[in-house]
Amino acid sequence: MMIKKADEIKGREITEKSTYLNRRQFIAAGAVLGAGLLLPGVFVGEVAGPKIPGVRPSPFGTKEERTPYKDVTGYNNYYEFGTDKEDPAANAGRFRIRPWTVRIDGAVKKSREYDIDQLIKMSPLEERVYRMRCVEGWSMVIPWVGFPLQSLIKAVEPSSQAKYVEFTTLLNPDQMPGQRRRVLDWPYVEGLRLDEAMHPLTLLAVGLYGEVLPNQNGAPLRLVVPWKYGFKGIKGIVRIRFVEHQPVTAWIKAAPNEYGFYSNVNPDVDHPRWSQRKERRIGEFFKRETLMFNGYADQVGHLYAGMDLRKYF
Ligand code: MTE
Repeated sequence: MMIKKADEIKGREITEKSTYLNRRQFIAAGAVLGAGLLLPGVFVGEVAGPKIPGVRPSPFGTKEERTPYKDVTGYNNYYEFGTDKEDPAANAGRFRIRPWTVRIDGAVKKSREYDIDQLIKMSPLEERVYRMRCVEGWSMVIPWVGFPLQSLIKAVEPSSQAKYVEFTTLLNPDQMPGQRRRVLDWPYVEGLRLDEAMHPLTLLAVGLYGEVLPNQNGAPLRLVVPWKYGFKGIKGIVRIRFVEHQPVTAWIKAAPNEYGFYSNVNPDVDHPRWSQRKERRIGEFFKRETLMFNGYADQVGHLYAGMDLRKYF
């Protein structure tokens, strides 16, 4: 994202996927030949978590081809574990995700602290296949397992002061090596307007491909908002706070002119340093046109009726 200078970004951040895959395949092939066995690791996409029981298929979701598991789990951003795309998979493996509590507080009638397993047990788990679009220009199709954030919000009963929802990631530099560098003002914070948070498409995810969420994808709990750029999808959530004023997110603190609060996928509003008109679907050669609200305009367009989306980007 913004922390690197433009020329660095050209070289590394937007690594052509084919180059990146070749490199991984090369490493994996070398390891297999050298060791005479298959690496149980991210290189060959062999990592598989336990299956999550009781997951219902959802009426929501796309039928588009899913991005392979190895790409979903091997190429992403999680700056707490490093700023390169391969870093989260390489460095998050030993991150401890139990015990884990999620505090829900602020402007609610019933503030709570949930043990993560209690929260998962009480929540209606569904599989949702969503198109995901990263602000950097790549996209994926990911079968998430999760529950609508709406179900949790209803349980805690927001008061009339609750206008926004603020999400916070764990702060633990011992376990999250990226937090030892001031790449961002830690902990990572994100936010939604209450009606966005209540929208049925907004998901709290606990798994993908039917399996427990790998650490690099945000275990044990992360946000998924498919009509917004990927950085809204905060990982490793420990706190959900209901507030009256628009939260100051980690990316707004870092570069307010580049990353707005809304961050809706919008091909008509360029990032100051690159166009958002097209995207590269991971695994495809040709770029495709980016769709308004990432193709979810029919479902979410009304949330932004009358708003100047250049101002509220
Ligand atoms: N959450 C935290 N805590 N830290 C991060 O650095 N990166 C974001 C988002 N959530 C990030 C985060 C960005 S920029 C993207 S594109 C998505 O995670 C990518 O992860 P995914 O492919 O697992 O959705």
